[in-house]
Amino acid sequence: MSLFKSVLFAMGAAMLAACATSAGTGASAPASLSAEAQVQQMNRGVNVLGYDPLWQDPARARFHERHMQIIHEGGFQTVRIVLQSFRHMDADNTLNPQWFATLDRMVNAALANHLTVILDEHDYGVCGEDPAACRVKLAAFWRQVGEHYKDAPPQVIFELLNEPNHAMDAQWNDVLAATLAVVRQTNPTRNVIIGPAFWNNINWLDRLQLPENDRHIIVTVHYYLPMEFTHQGAPWVPEMRQLGVTWGSAEDRAFLKANFDGVKAWSEAHHRPIFLGEFGAYDRAPLESRVAYTSAVAREAEAHGFAWAYWQFDSDFVVWDMATDSWNAPIHDALIPH
Ligand code: BGC
Repeated sequence: MSLFKSVLFAMGAAMLAACATSAGTGASAPASLSAEAQVQQMNRGVNVLGYDPLWQDPARARFHERHMQIIHEGGFQTVRIVLQSFRHMDADNTLNPQWFATLDRMVNAALANHLTVILDEHDYGVCGEDPAACRVKLAAFWRQVGEHYKDAPPQVIFELLNEPNHAMDAQWNDVLAATLAVVRQTNPTRNVIIGPAFWNNINWLDRLQLPENDRHIIVTVHYYLPMEFTHQGAPWVPEMRQLGVTWGSAEDRAFLKANFDGVKAWSEAHHRPIFLGEFGAYDRAPLESRVAYTSAVAREAEAHGFAWAYWQFDSDFVVWDMATDSWNAPIHDALIPH
């Protein structure tokens, strides 16, 4: 995450059986879910695999298929697979077959464990710097991924691009329309997740323009407010160096509720259901406050009818401790109350 973001952000097998036969044609096509029904199914989720060495070399994997079962048994219904795919394309923007094989393994493991699986294109850095190059790569990505998963059950969802930012902000409405059109060539009724520009910021929802007649869209926002609390000590946000910032006052809670009330009002006015795709507080924040924040954001999202995904399973903000092969109990309990 850049300085700019940090400053301004402050403001399965069973499911595979869900395939239906298209009337009249005899052809098999995946059944579809309304965006609203899908958000209800998605419920509670977690971000996975974004910074795992398995994408470079499957032999060095930290995350294995068995973790999908652990996630399901841990009380989650969704995984958001964070894909930095551009680096796995050749000069013609063709995705590496080994990358696809790894992704297939993970998607199948998620589905077999009754998890909804979001494929999130996460090259937001490149896209913020060079929207023109990004536009071409995004289209190539969704042409190939759309074709590859066109017969997957509706529990496979596509997220066009994580956190558009910087130079992409002004072009995002254009780019999202063009990218969505690529997806719709192969996946006419699959639900697609799209968020506002400026890092999927809640205050940019009003500028988001979506094709009115496409009702298979779920809108996503990310929530890390206040940054001084959630990103304290995070090395990629050097100006948040002050440690010991706490969270949990009546004022803190009222601010959270007011922010989510605003998102809900937008959602109702535009008839678009909401997915809170990332939230959390970095590992260096005081644990008691992290627990209070994590639990409050998750419960407030649920009270507003939003599905959510915690940032993240492994790496940082961890809810799963790879070293001890067990849940980070305070964070897990905050997310999934007994
Ligand atoms: C980025 C991560 C970062 C997180 C919180 C995500 O969108 O991919 O690198 O840790 O936001 O700042």
